[in-house]
Amino acid sequence: MALYEEEIAAKIWRNGEIIPWEDAMIHVNSVGHASVAGIFEGIKAYWNEDDRQLYVFRLADHLKRFLASIKMVRYGFAYSAEEITQAILDLLKANEYRRDVYIRPYIFQKGMVRELLQAEPGKATEFIIDSWPFSSYKDPAHGLDVCVSSWTRIADNALPPRLKCFSNYHNGRLAAMEATVSGYDWPILLDGQGKVTEGPGACLAIVRDGEVITPSVTSSILESVTRATIGAIVQEVLEVPWVERVIDRTELYLADEIFFLGTGWEIMPVISVDRLTVGEGQVGPVTQAIHGAYRDIVRGVDKRHPDWRTPVW
Ligand SMILES: Cc1ncc(COP(=O)(O)O)c(C=O)c1O
Repeated sequence: MALYEEEIAAKIWRNGEIIPWEDAMIHVNSVGHASVAGIFEGIKAYWNEDDRQLYVFRLADHLKRFLASIKMVRYGFAYSAEEITQAILDLLKANEYRRDVYIRPYIFQKGMVRELLQAEPGKATEFIIDSWPFSSYKDPAHGLDVCVSSWTRIADNALPPRLKCFSNYHNGRLAAMEATVSGYDWPILLDGQGKVTEGPGACLAIVRDGEVITPSVTSSILESVTRATIGAIVQEVLEVPWVERVIDRTELYLADEIFFLGTGWEIMPVISVDRLTVGEGQVGPVTQAIHGAYRDIVRGVDKRHPDWRTPVW
């Protein structure tokens, strides 16, 4: 399943300069260990045709998480959230985007393999801001057939899921490949105690007996920006209870509705788990309502929470 179109941007931001995309090279000797503690963010900007405006969604929250991850890996990194915001806006303008765009700031340690093997605190980093056009491809009329993975979600005292680090994604990749070869669309991972965590690249929520329930922030999940947005939408727009707590595996089997949520995935319904039908086996009414409300708020069709949308033009 392709999340993004195969289009590249004309320009990329590298260490303070906007340069042609094809000039952003790195020596092959650095490949491998350079990205072991590489930190990144996944952000989207949405085009609003009526406003003739491109809005970056929840930029401040993504940059807060980016800087929190950098703190945890003890890199030397001199940019403030304000400077990164300006750099992102400059790059979006340089690429003349007037359509939906995905934005990926990331850092990795500079140097050749010998230096990279020494995990010294305060090391300098390469700082890149990449971007590429995307279209929301998801059709909420269709849902995913998922499985509970035999792989365990990484733990806070091993590879903290709260830290948005490239290395963490190997865990989800193993689970996704297992799901694919077993004939499922996507997996859900459990933690070491057998409690529900998230999917590779997305958090999840279940609807049960009139409540929307999502695993707590201490359930081995990434502290997702979309999760915070959906929490607000559920309470303010749908006026339905939003609960953050530990979720058991068997609650997946009894849920009325289940959906993945994240910047990349947006809202993606789940219609079966381990071949047990979720609810009626179709996209449920709460998921549909959340999908519509999310689409409107990110694009600024719903004008609530103006602080969530940073205009580019
Ligand atoms: C592992 C993982 N969990 C959850 C999410 C959702 O986080 P957010 O809503 O901040 O994009 C992501 C994605 O970006 C992710 O990679």
